[in-house]
Amino acid sequence: MHDIAADRVEYHGQTLDGVNAATSPYALFRSWLEAAYEAGNPEPTAMQVATVALGGDGVPRPSVRTVLLKEVDERGFVFFSNYRSRKGREIEAQPQVALQWYWPALARAVRVEGTAVRVDRQESEAYFASRPRGSQLGAWASQQSAELDSRAELLAAYARVGEEFRGREVPCPEHWGGWRVPAGAIEFWQGEPSRLHDRVRFTREGTSWQLHRLAP
Ligand SMILES: Cc1cc2nc3c(=O)[nH]c(=O)nc-3n(C[C@H](O)[C@H](O)[C@H](O)COP(=O)(O)O)c2cc1C
Repeated sequence: MHDIAADRVEYHGQTLDGVNAATSPYALFRSWLEAAYEAGNPEPTAMQVATVALGGDGVPRPSVRTVLLKEVDERGFVFFSNYRSRKGREIEAQPQVALQWYWPALARAVRVEGTAVRVDRQESEAYFASRPRGSQLGAWASQQSAELDSRAELLAAYARVGEEFRGREVPCPEHWGGWRVPAGAIEFWQGEPSRLHDRVRFTREGTSWQLHRLAP
């Protein structure tokens, strides 16, 4: 059994001294993502999406899961999923979300806060069309987040849709598509020795960004 309390990694990264008010946080994100690929991080686009739902008692209940980033530019961060899934229902009711990436090979993390908006239908359809056929069929077969009696039930649904779409293109389900999260805040975290990490947070002020340095 690992002694998890004693498990410690000492981080040594480039500091964020070069980051200043003229830095575009989206450009910086892209360069960190590229560096994460180069450093050999598996699936560097994998990110956590946190949502929050109000329970019947009015108490907020956050939840988090992993998805893949599929596009990023100055308009925001895009991911795709099932609009009827738990996250889908939660985002539609309460679109304030938080995102997070952690790239261990570089001791780097990025956090984003923003309000999710559905991407255009055409954008969802174009991305869906680029997916492997198996994943397209999976999107039809899986009522994501619904309870299943057995795995066999899912495999039977997959076989059924495979038959249904045999010999033709698989269209994008109405209930499947993307959200874009324009960042209201983006934080870059670089691990440093002695837990004296570097943290820089950009907050959106109108059309420009404000830069804040945060204690680790
Ligand atoms: C590495 C990784 C990537 C994933 N990518 C996606 C994705 O892009 N879209 C998606 O809907 N689910 C993705 N999932 C599955 C989700 O984490 C989650 O199980 C699913 O979306 C249901 O979440 P929900 O019940 O909160 O809606 C991924 C899981 C992992 C571990």
